[in-house]
Amino acid sequence: MITIKNIHKKFRQKDGSDLTVLKNINFKIQEGEFISLLGPSGCGKSTLLNIIAGLESTSSGKILVENKEINGPGSDRGVVFQEAALFPWLSVLDNVKFGLKNANIKENQIEKQALKYISKVHLSKFQDSYPHQLSGGMRQRAAIARALAMNPKILLMDEPFGALDEQTRMMLQYELQKIWLESKKTILFVTHNIREAVQLSDRIVVFGTQPGRIKEIFEVKAARPRKENKGYLLELENRILAVLKEEIEKVMKEEMGDAYNFEEGSLPWDPNRNMGSHI
Ligand SMILES: Nc1ncnc2c1ncn2[C@@H]1O[C@H](COP(=O)(O)OP(=O)(O)O)[C@@H](O)[C@H]1O
Ligand SMILES: [Mg+2]
Repeated sequence: MITIKNIHKKFRQKDGSDLTVLKNINFKIQEGEFISLLGPSGCGKSTLLNIIAGLESTSSGKILVENKEINGPGSDRGVVFQEAALFPWLSVLDNVKFGLKNANIKENQIEKQALKYISKVHLSKFQDSYPHQLSGGMRQRAAIARALAMNPKILLMDEPFGALDEQTRMMLQYELQKIWLESKKTILFVTHNIREAVQLSDRIVVFGTQPGRIKEIFEVKAARPRKENKGYLLELENRILAVLKEEIEKVMKEEMGDAYNFEEGSLPWDPNRNMGSHI
């Protein structure tokens, strides 16, 4: 279980003033849960994920993993970012093996383990390819394989499909659900896409902005794997959009001044479109 306890985070700005990015963040993530952080850009999602990863400090508050306070990165937490951070000079296989060299795994098991996870993300045919020879979706799959191969209990994913085209994104959302069902990992998934959050999550933590804080937590009670959001899931998308509307307006007004009008705005209301992908 992960306990996020009273997290506050301030960043010192160039003019010397402090910007509060996260305020009073409290929630728990159960073991094996798939939980999403959803909110407009700039609300502190990545900051919180980085704090949980141990890559960023808090101003106050703490993160407990299995009741132990974390104070840096650890092999219990694997991270996948929006842009697959693969080494361009290493093949897919060597990229996946690289992380394992620092893990507590016997030399002769490293390749076997790497190949197992490469096959899980359906990249076996490309194990000897270099990152520049792969599509964006394949690179993200390689990054997921690398994180999974270390066998962390917790997978932290920061908009991992954010830079992908819609078809690839849908395919990877489906694959990720299958991986999660099989591996029983705890997954914390950051996204600004409502549809994606609804499709993937057990619970969705909806963030407000300025400062980043929790607005509401939604439960998603539907069988998996989920392929498209119909009926109840679509209704849930609309309920979440209603909560986010205020936040989106706040951000847009700041950027556009009075010229912004939500009702006539450019946000797609048509449920057949990918709601929320542009917030
Ligand atoms: N290292 C930093 N120094 C100063 N400000 C930062 C830093 N990192 C993030 N911020 C600011 O914190 C806010 C939240 O950023 P971020 O967590 O990246 O939001 P999100 O991932 O939700 O888009 C933004 O206003 C951003 O400009
Ligand atoms: Mg972010």
